[in-house]
Amino acid sequence: MISLAVAAAGWVGSSHPEITPPSNFHHLRDTTFHSDWLSMIAPRLRLAKNLLADDGVIFISIDDHEVQNLRNLGNEIFGEQNFVTSVIWQRVFSPKNSAQWFSEDHDYVLIFAKNKNTWRPNLLPQTEEMISRYKNPDNDERGPWTSSDLAARNRYDAGLYAITCPSGRVIEGPPKGRYWGVSEENFQRLNQENRIWWGADGNNMPRLKRFLSEVKQGITPQTLWFYKDVGHTQDAKKTLLKYVPFENTENVLNSVKPVALIQRMIQLATDAQSQDIVLDFFSGSAPTAHAVLEQNKADGGNRRFIGVQVAEPLRIPESKMKTIFDMGKLRVESVISEMKKEGIESLGFRVLKIDSSNMADVYYTPDATTQADLLTRVDNIKPDRTPEDLLFQVLLDWGVDLTLPITRESVAGKTVFTVAGTALIACFDNGVDETLVKTLATRHPLRVVFKDTGFKDDATKINVRQIFKSLSPDTEVKAI
Ligand SMILES: C[S@@+](CC[C@H](N)C(=O)[O-])C[C@H]1O[C@@H](n2cnc3c(N)ncnc32)[C@H](O)[C@@H]1O
Repeated sequence: MISLAVAAAGWVGSSHPEITPPSNFHHLRDTTFHSDWLSMIAPRLRLAKNLLADDGVIFISIDDHEVQNLRNLGNEIFGEQNFVTSVIWQRVFSPKNSAQWFSEDHDYVLIFAKNKNTWRPNLLPQTEEMISRYKNPDNDERGPWTSSDLAARNRYDAGLYAITCPSGRVIEGPPKGRYWGVSEENFQRLNQENRIWWGADGNNMPRLKRFLSEVKQGITPQTLWFYKDVGHTQDAKKTLLKYVPFENTENVLNSVKPVALIQRMIQLATDAQSQDIVLDFFSGSAPTAHAVLEQNKADGGNRRFIGVQVAEPLRIPESKMKTIFDMGKLRVESVISEMKKEGIESLGFRVLKIDSSNMADVYYTPDATTQADLLTRVDNIKPDRTPEDLLFQVLLDWGVDLTLPITRESVAGKTVFTVAGTALIACFDNGVDETLVKTLATRHPLRVVFKDTGFKDDATKINVRQIFKSLSPDTEVKAI
């Protein structure tokens, strides 16, 4: 669903981002705060909208102070007609008695769909507690059931009639001000089908039996999210401490989100088997990545995550981590390693850092070029760039999925990268000769890429296309 910041060029699929704006900005709240904060958040929301799949949705968590501004901004960017709802999340476990006015116990989660007309939330799974309310005291062969009141407040003229209980007692009609919810005819039918419960002794007010096997297989989501269901901030910190070995607890973020909170968003907005992508623009301690992994573990899903995080320094640098980014990375590594120990294989993630272009600036006008420059500009690639840097540039340029498996091997003494078997083969070494080119051509890759300055001699450079044309005509050949 989402494509991410660095990969706006390439990633496809359906995406459902989760954005968690920075509520750690409280200390900055002054007169310039609003405009600064809004100008930071606005481009990210615009980008999020562009990256969202047509059936995508964004969850934006925010505290009471900014909710108004963010709602206005969301309306402007996503369109008021795509505002779905605002959820209240009870984020605090115990009230703050030191609060000057009120103990602020909740945050908001604003939900905007890319297109509200087509987006619908998934139903939430029924909890054990809900299921346990269904019993089977009369051993009904249709299985466990619960019952609901047959009398309702809504005016229903056909719902006023006398009923005789199995015990013989006559009930003259529904309680005052209420109506039976079904007509007399329907009531008789339901009774014949053993769908009316009269109590163990057959003498109670009639109730309608509702079978577990017949109720909607899920719960319609509500707008109040209690911590007993989705966790609170203290839970979130505890989880973070379990996975990241902090040397200084001062480094633990204050506004961490519980995994269960984000898992709820994932349940509402993604499908287990559609390779949906969940993007968090403010990844922080990486609860979103963690929640995706947990949800996949719970339902065997294949969702993917993207976390974006600036290398914001920790308050106190530690031996294993210096930045919030490092913290998130450590957490994802540690969650994955735990899951692998439980036997869940094929988990992994890649870390990509946004950098300037790999290409050296060679587009100088002749009068701005000195003789010395000519010698240094023989290579059009910046000298500090690794083959992996070049490979990922090519993957992005070609729109190849960045999560595909990559192998590295030595062929005729040169390092060759192979992406997903035949999706792409790359060699960025110097001294590439015709033998190597022919070997690679016999593998029939969809795409092949070399360094423009990497060929052994001009003849090889000229012949490359010809070799592929005759040995693997469908291969797209590129030199960078
Ligand atoms: C409230 S925290 C997110 C916490 C995260 N949801 C968690 O549970 O750990 C906000 C994050 O936004 C990041 N951030 C702050 N300013 C930013 C900016 N200008 N651009 C991108 N990220 C920023 C901070 O580094 C911080 O990690």
